[in-house]
This record gives sequence, C-alpha cells and structure tokens, in this order.
Amino acid sequence: MSVRIAPSLLSADFARLAEEVARAEAGGADLIHVDVMDGHFVPNITIGVPVVKALKKVAKVPLDVHLMISEPDRYIDAFVDAGAAILTVHAEAATHLHRTLTRIRQLGAKAGLALNPATPIHHAADVAAEIDLLLVMSVNPGFGGQTFIPRSYDRIAEARALLTRAGNNADIEVDGGVDRTNAARLVRAGATVLVAGASVFGTPDPAAAARALREAALGAA
Ligand code: DX5
Ligand code: ZN
Repeated sequence: MSVRIAPSLLSADFARLAEEVARAEAGGADLIHVDVMDGHFVPNITIGVPVVKALKKVAKVPLDVHLMISEPDRYIDAFVDAGAAILTVHAEAATHLHRTLTRIRQLGAKAGLALNPATPIHHAADVAAEIDLLLVMSVNPGFGGQTFIPRSYDRIAEARALLTRAGNNADIEVDGGVDRTNAARLVRAGATVLVAGASVFGTPDPAAAARALREAALGAA
C-alpha cells in the first residue's frame, strides 16, 4: 500500500510561501497541493497562474493544482504552462468534461477529476479511462480547516470500485479535514493521496506534522 502526502498551502503563510514549501518538503511531502479559487465556483478567492509559476521555481516536488473555478477550459493551458504536474478540475464546473480531461493529458500533465460531497461517484464513470487521479472532496470546497464528512469513507471505497471496474489504477485523493485520526481509515478505504492543510500548516511544526501524518496513514498498511 503506497500513500502520498500532499500538504495544502491554503493554510500556509502566504507571505512566506517558499519557506512553507521547504518546511513541507523537509517533512517528506510528496506533492504540494495548490488550491485555486475564483470566488464564483466557490465562495472564496485565492491565487492564480503567477503564483503557481513562482511556486514551480522553488518546489522540489511536483505541484498538485486543484482548480475550484468555473469554466476551467479557459485556464488549463496556462496552469500546465505555469508548472502544474497534476491538474484537477471539478466535474460540477466543466461542461465538456471529456474534452477538458483529454486536453490536460495532451498538454503533458496528469488529469485529475474532483467530485464535491453531493456529487454521486458514478458521475465519473464515463470518463474513468481519461483520468490519472480522482479527487473525492471530504468537505465542501472553499475553505481550509473544515470538518471531515464521514460519508467520505464509503465514497472513497465506491471510487476505488469504479476505477477497478474501468481497469484504471488511478490515484484516489482525499481533500478536506484529513488528519492523523482519519488517515489510516482513508487509506484502507482506497485513498492513495492525502491532502492536508490545517493539520500540517496550522501546527507550529509543519514538517513534523507531515511526517506524523504519513506514519499515521501507513499504520493502515
Ligand atoms: C478546500 C481545499 C483544501 C483545503 C483543505 O476547499 O480544496 O485543499 O486546503 O484544508 P484542510 O486540510 O484544512 O481541510
Ligand atoms: Zn484542495
């Protein structure tokens, strides 16, 4: 059982992003999770292409860019160009999802598909062959530090079953309220990438928190 840890910069100090990335990497982060919000698809505004470009210069690990924006097709070229290794779009935001996911891969990035807590997992069925990662949101997107929604365990198991049926061994990422108390159960359910914002950057020692999260997650193996 392998698991990757993806600290989310949403809970980091935005005035010191390079140092925060270095802290996460010192704690063994496998990916840096970057949350892009547009104030339209979600009720919050965060960062855009120029910040991803700047992060790409300092990060040693791949950037995992989570687009919480309407009409993602308008921006996917720019985000891949800026350095996104994984680019994830929301099913609820993309009108022509198959085209969007295909385009991300054509551009040379890994294509991720995110599903909100109220979106049935089977929504991913007809594009299951086109994705490298399925992101199961375990909070309603928009803010860090929210409470984990327990139904997510079953949704992750459903997601793993759906991908297996499609013959795709893609990653399953879980995002929202992930911490040491639920990591092992999430991995047991089928998650392979754990995103963690508050439980890493909301602590005095993010490197130690990232390490502790991995240890907790591996307790599942
Ligand atoms: C929420 C974002 C998450 C967020 C998770 O909309 O997609 O990546 O940073 O934060 P925590 O881990 O604090 O719930
Ligand atoms: Zn996210």
